[in-house]
Amino acid sequence: MSPAKVVMFVGSLRKESFNRKMAAALSALNVAPLQFEFAEIGRLPLYNQDLEGEEAPAEWVALRQQVKKADAVLFITPEYNRSVPGVLKNAIDVASRPYGQNTLEGKPGAVIGVSPGAMGAFGAVHHLRQMMVFLNVPMMQQPEAYMGGATQMFDAKGGFAQENTREFMKKFVEAFAKWIERIRG
Ligand code: FNR
Repeated sequence: MSPAKVVMFVGSLRKESFNRKMAAALSALNVAPLQFEFAEIGRLPLYNQDLEGEEAPAEWVALRQQVKKADAVLFITPEYNRSVPGVLKNAIDVASRPYGQNTLEGKPGAVIGVSPGAMGAFGAVHHLRQMMVFLNVPMMQQPEAYMGGATQMFDAKGGFAQENTREFMKKFVEAFAKWIERIRG
């Protein structure tokens, strides 16, 4: 089977985002035959049902095509006010519509929360999981990844600063690769 293509949705647009660093660092681990790519969610016009149809914004169409072509989805998100940032919610809304054309449907998924705080974006992770139930995205249950203490997580080159984080993320990616295989059949 060809390597599974995984689209990563990163819930932060910040240049020095810890979540973006997590996405880059885990893609560089190369522990499983997975092909990672970023979904560009920062320029998506806000979801507005009136724009559906032939005039749908090009950015929406591009995101939907990218997700359709992917084998799996990985969400890497900070927590904003105990939930997911609006930019990520908007991207999920765009990818899930128009009604009956949810591009996320059935794709194996996983989520990682990254935060400077101790709780590792627990609230955001579970709000995201709730959305995925409705969207019929089979989410990997274990290992859970609530990555707190993000200010100490990366070295100057963007790699994992601590060996235990690196080992944990390797296990996470390996488990996700198995999960994708299982769902793909
Ligand atoms: C935050 N932050 C935050 N952190 C947290 O652990 N729980 C929370 O509920 C919130 N709420 C929150 C709201 C808003 C509007 C902002 C801007 C920030 C802090 C947040 O975790 C921190 O800014 C991270 O660095 C954001 O992730 P990136 O951008 O580094 O990936």
